[in-house]
Amino acid sequence: MSYEQNFRVWRGDAEGGDFENYDVEVNEGEVVLDVIHRLQATQTPDLAVRWNCKAGKCGSCSAEINGRPRLLCMTRMSTLPQESTVTITPMRTFPVIRDLVTDVSFNYEKAREVRAFVPPEGLKPGEYRMQQVDVERSQEFRKCIECFLCQDTCHVLRDHEENKPAFSGPRFLMRVAELDMHPLDAAAEQGVNRKAAAQDEHGLGFCNITKCCTEVCPEHIKITDNALIPLKERVVDLKFDPMIRRKKKAKA
Ligand code: SF4
Ligand code: F3S
Ligand code: FES
Repeated sequence: MSYEQNFRVWRGDAEGGDFENYDVEVNEGEVVLDVIHRLQATQTPDLAVRWNCKAGKCGSCSAEINGRPRLLCMTRMSTLPQESTVTITPMRTFPVIRDLVTDVSFNYEKAREVRAFVPPEGLKPGEYRMQQVDVERSQEFRKCIECFLCQDTCHVLRDHEENKPAFSGPRFLMRVAELDMHPLDAAAEQGVNRKAAAQDEHGLGFCNITKCCTEVCPEHIKITDNALIPLKERVVDLKFDPMIRRKKKAKA
């Protein structure tokens, strides 16, 4: 079954832009990216859109569909109402390069600020041994495809450009949480305190647990419940646990 759907697509660049309306054919089983490709093939060969795998695995095709951060290749047309216009916009949190393509380099800068895993001394890769529960925790976080939809939706970044220098966003706080919970990470032995870094360098305190990041994650990672809240609890222990404070005082 085919039908015509009206699309309102944002066209422009860093200097500015506006919406343009297009009627495009939609066929059964298609996703939004299929229709965007048909639009490029038939009406707007210069429409810029980033994509790669068309399988929800490369994280390239992030945009906003009717105002919601989504992967274009994983959003079925059948989930959108046929009778109303579908609005497609670039991710709002990042600067536009052209049309639906944004400059996500903010995220790569934040990634570089997270200090890497420090291998335990005296163990070669292949000799690491961990409890299954620790393996599974890391594996959940490792499902991340770096689509940055969580970064796009988090109001701390989305509505407050001025927070960007101080807040790394859910994706990278999740990375810090993963490393802090990793039983073999030896960063502490090199003087790196990941809990203190989460709070002081990555802005964990800005997160007020709205869980919007978790809602939009295409990999269904429980970012808030499994990474951000446990990390907050660990930071609270570090800062306010009376026993830890007493030990620190005794050392000083
Ligand atoms: Fe995308 Fe989820 Fe990774 Fe965020 S945590 S970048 S939403 S896959
Ligand atoms: Fe933002 Fe997620 Fe926290 S949306 S406020 S990082 S729970
Ligand atoms: Fe790869 Fe959509 S094209 S996730």
